[in-house]
Amino acid sequence: MDILAAFEEFEKQCLGAISEAADSAGLEQVRVEYMGQKSGRIRDLQKLLGKAEPSEKPIVGKRFNEVRTGITAALEQRAEQLQTAAAETGPAFDVTLPGTSARTGRLHPITQVISEFRELMGRFGFTVVDGPEIEDERHNFEALNIPEDHPARDPLDNFYLACAGTVSGGPVLLRSQTSTVQIRTMEQAQPPIRIVSLGRVYRPDTIDATHSCMFHLMEGLLVDRDVTMAQLKTVLSQFARSFLGPDVEIRFRPSFFPFTEPSVEVDMKWGDSWMEIGGAGMVDPAVFESVGYDPEEYQGFAFGLGIERFCMKHFGVDDIRRFYENDLRFLSQFG
Ligand code: DAH
Repeated sequence: MDILAAFEEFEKQCLGAISEAADSAGLEQVRVEYMGQKSGRIRDLQKLLGKAEPSEKPIVGKRFNEVRTGITAALEQRAEQLQTAAAETGPAFDVTLPGTSARTGRLHPITQVISEFRELMGRFGFTVVDGPEIEDERHNFEALNIPEDHPARDPLDNFYLACAGTVSGGPVLLRSQTSTVQIRTMEQAQPPIRIVSLGRVYRPDTIDATHSCMFHLMEGLLVDRDVTMAQLKTVLSQFARSFLGPDVEIRFRPSFFPFTEPSVEVDMKWGDSWMEIGGAGMVDPAVFESVGYDPEEYQGFAFGLGIERFCMKHFGVDDIRRFYENDLRFLSQFG
């Protein structure tokens, strides 16, 4: 019965190897070595089968089949065990590899500057108010002492809207200045007043490196008793210094605006050159009258500063159009 002993030995070795296989690849090696169709060790057993005495054949044959099915079942069982174990520990990966970082958004440079302006002016005691971008002629012109025949009202210089149906029934336009908010504020409140309003204005300008059809202004208005031009100059120069640094200088040049008297153009010196940043002046008595304030009792100063100008200077941008192109390669430099 040497043949049965050989079967025994084969079975023992093979089952041992199966239970020792550490992973699926190792188990596959065991399968090929013992049970492989072409050169597995099971073929030696098959050969022994042929050498058995005719009387032994039924027993030997039966035993051969038992060994083969037993091993096949053990292989399957071990394969399942190994798979479950692998699923529990998860796939092998390298925890030291750098991850893919999510791209974070940032605020548009103009939005950043607007927030900073609000914050700075807040420290000077100015409250931030908002006004509509679609305006009527009273708030954009009339109450600001811009009479009907004034060239600033020329339809070619403004974006009048084709739609009618305002509350007053008159024409409406995209506001050309934030001075509209001065009127809206004074219509609703009594002095003292200290407000700033930051927002978009629209003008059909020819677009170039320093002009755009839409840009942002910061309007300021202070109304009280005994207000002077010296205070206006102080507020503006302190403001410019807090934003751009202690070396900034402010200069006033005589100018004209219908809603201020006297009026000045404001320039800022930063480095070697002067740059115009906006207009300002003492509120014209006619404006006070249009909102029902007594010009004998109150004075005020007002200013309108171009936000893009500050932005360009601050961020070193030489073309205003860059701000509106939504080019992420440009925008992602700021912040
Ligand atoms: N509204 C003027 C403009 O858009 C700017 C301006 C000038 C505003 C003088 C003012 C001011 O409040 O007093 O060009």
